[in-house]
This record gives sequence, structure tokens and C-alpha cells, in this order.
Amino acid sequence: MKNYVEINQKIKKFNKIISIPGDKSISIRFVLMAAMGLGVSRAYGLLSSDDVNASLKAISKLGIRVYKKKKYVEVIGQGLRGFAFKNKTVINCQNSGTLMRLIGGLVCKSKNSVVLKGDHSLSQRPVRIIEPLNLMGVNVKSKNNKLPIEIIGTDYLRPIQYKEINGSAQIKTLCCLCALNTPKNSISNIIAKNSRDHTEKLFKYLKIPIKIKKKGIYDFIEIKGGYQHNGFVQEIPGDISSASFFICLTLLSKNSSIIIKNVNVNKTRTGIIDLAKKICPNSIKIKNKKINNGEDVADIYVKSSKKFKAITPDPSINSKVIDEFPLIFLLVCKSSKISYFRGISELAHKESNRLKVCANFLKQIGIKVIEKKDSLKIYGNPSLNINKNIVVRNFMKDHRIFMMACVAGLTFKGSAIFKINDSDSIKTSFPSFLKLMKKIGAKIK
Ligand code: S3P
Repeated sequence: MKNYVEINQKIKKFNKIISIPGDKSISIRFVLMAAMGLGVSRAYGLLSSDDVNASLKAISKLGIRVYKKKKYVEVIGQGLRGFAFKNKTVINCQNSGTLMRLIGGLVCKSKNSVVLKGDHSLSQRPVRIIEPLNLMGVNVKSKNNKLPIEIIGTDYLRPIQYKEINGSAQIKTLCCLCALNTPKNSISNIIAKNSRDHTEKLFKYLKIPIKIKKKGIYDFIEIKGGYQHNGFVQEIPGDISSASFFICLTLLSKNSSIIIKNVNVNKTRTGIIDLAKKICPNSIKIKNKKINNGEDVADIYVKSSKKFKAITPDPSINSKVIDEFPLIFLLVCKSSKISYFRGISELAHKESNRLKVCANFLKQIGIKVIEKKDSLKIYGNPSLNINKNIVVRNFMKDHRIFMMACVAGLTFKGSAIFKINDSDSIKTSFPSFLKLMKKIGAKIK
């Protein structure tokens, strides 16, 4: 079957109201926390994508029942000690780094082991979970820090004292989930560089004993072990990372506007809005804020931007925009000056080496860049005209690179035809991406 798209027409003026599928991070956390809960949990608006389905399959393999209904998904949790599975149970994490890094929190106390596998992209990424798991007494068998690995739980799980220095919400969350399994009243301390805080918010919502103190770029998290949460109901808001493709499409289009309803605007995720507002002044507004299950939710209003300014953001914002850098890079191409992004080496460890892949893409469309291990300089060019056809080969099938390239093809000036490979990559996070693009008028073949 055809696994690429061709774009040979720019998107025409549009004024639309759309909704975006559920947040991926919150959806995966729901699945795992519901499996650890006692009783029935139900999620409305759970993202239906490969990463979330892999998480549902994973908990099924651990003996947890899952019911997918039309309007909701139900998980019948058996409590922290209720998992039942054979030794060496294989869990295929597919493309999901989040599942691979978090699942240890469920099996860290089990006698029987699990073997984690992943697709080609995930198998190239550092697993990063071995050190924290070892510190808690969990044995992990691996070759060279890559998948496949085997996690062998322990009956004597120790509370953890851990400093997470990469700003990885996944590693922070692994420690938080394990902390739930430590003996009653034992205290785990996690010092974590700022990163998305959906787990902490969910813990608070479920009344799990957690204390958080913020000091500069670190959060000091204290969790009391042995608390058993019950089943719960969660409404999953739209994913800001998915919304970002439509935000940037609108900013880059002419005379257009969009309202994106019901998006998660958790402050640890809204770096895309903060930076896009600096690049494109007066083009974005957040309205109708409310709180849903402890998470901030709002509608995002965007209109086409007349101006594009260069930026040199302080690296302290990086974790808030970590998945949206490819789009920010596109926006600054339209400015007339140099933008400079520093402290971005983490991009090399995503679904593809996004630092390299984005730099190559920008060069391919005619933008001058200087790429270093930890930084990217982008020489904006407002009169950029792309007339030579562009073929995007997405070797790691990175969903966010595919969608970013579609936004460029639909909005950047010039007669070039964009052929973008691996359209099936969107199944990871945003299966309805192309359908929604077509709904607002994009001509994509
Ligand atoms: C995620 C955290 C981030 C992000 C990923 C989802 C999460 O990864 O890039 O898409 O759900 O915790 P890191 O924790 O590796 O930074």
C-alpha cells in the first residue's frame, strides 16, 4: 500500500473550529495507573493510537482486563500486587519510549520477569531505566543499554533517592511509579530537572501522598510508599503536541484562523505557545480555561501571522517544548534574522535524531543552518522560495517529522512538490492527522 503523501498545492484560506485527539502522555499514564489501581477505571477521550494501544496490550499481558467501548475505555485494576503473568513475558513497546520507560513501575515487585522489545526506532534509543531500577534493587539484563531487556522484579524494593538530570519526565515517572510499590510509609526522594508533570498531577488527584518543592530548575519530590489508590474516572484533554501542527499551519498560512477546542495547556507543556507568541506576536490567545482532573484545559485561538521574529530562547524552556522543536524551527525560517537554539542535545534521543533530521530538512529546503551536538543556528529567510522538488525520507519513521514536513509543504512558498515518506508513522500519536488536515482544506494526495 502507498505509504507516502504528495503535496503540490498550498493550503487555501481557512477559518475553522477543530478538536484534537487525546493527549498521549496523559493517556499512557491513565492506562498504567488504572492497571495499578484497585477496581474499575474509566477514561473518556483516551487517545486511540499505536503507542496507547501498545500500553493497553502491555497491561493485558500482565493479566489486567481492558474493555474498549465506543465512548470510553475501561481497565479493571487489581491493585499494586495484582499482576499475574508468566516468567519472561514479552511486552512489545513498539515505538513508545514512554511505555518502555514506565512499565518497570508496574513489574518492579514481581517474581516473574518481563522482556521488553520495541520497533527499529525504539531499539536504537538508550533505555535509561537500568540505573534507577538497579538502585531500587531491581535487576535488569541488557546488552549495551538498548532493547531488548529483561526486568526481574524484587520482593525487597527499596525506596529511591535519585537525581534525574536530563529533564526526562519518563524517568521521573518511572521512579514515582516504583515509589508506590515500596513498603508502607517508606519515603522516596526524587530530585528531577523540570519536565512535564502529568504524573505528579495525577498522583495529587488520586490523593497519593506526594510532596513537591520547586527550587530553580529542579523539583524535589517526596512520595510515601504503600498507598493503594482506587479505580478512577478521567477525561483526557486534547494533546497540545498534536494541536501544535495546526497552530503552526495557521501561523504560516495567509488570512486564516483556527480555534482548537479543549486542549491540555499544562504549563510544563506550553513552551510551543510561549515561543510561538515571541516569533509571531499577537497571533495566539488562550481562552476558556478550566481544570479537568487536575489538568489545565483551554481553547486555543490562532490567526495567521504577519510577522516572524528570530529568537534565542533560554534553554530553561527546552523541556516545555521538547516535542515541538521541529515546528519552532519551521516558524523561524520565516524571520529575517538568525535564531539560536541551545542545550538541545536531547533531541538526538527522540524517535529519530531530530536535531540532525531537522537540520537536514531545513538545508534541503534552502535554509542555512549551523548544527552542533547541542545547538542549532537557523538563518531565517523571509523570501525563501522552494522550487526544487523535496523528497523527505524518514528513516526512523518519526511521526513528528512526517507531520512537520506536511506543514512546510502546505505553507512554504514556491512551486516544489513535496513527497513525504512514511505516512503510516502518524499512527503512533495522531492517526487522524491527514483526515483533519483535509477537513480544513489541505490538498494532500
Ligand atoms: C514524555 C516525555 C518526553 C517526551 C515524550 C513523552 C512522557 O520524553 O519527549 O514524547 O510522556 O513522559 P523524555 O521523558 O525522554 O524527555
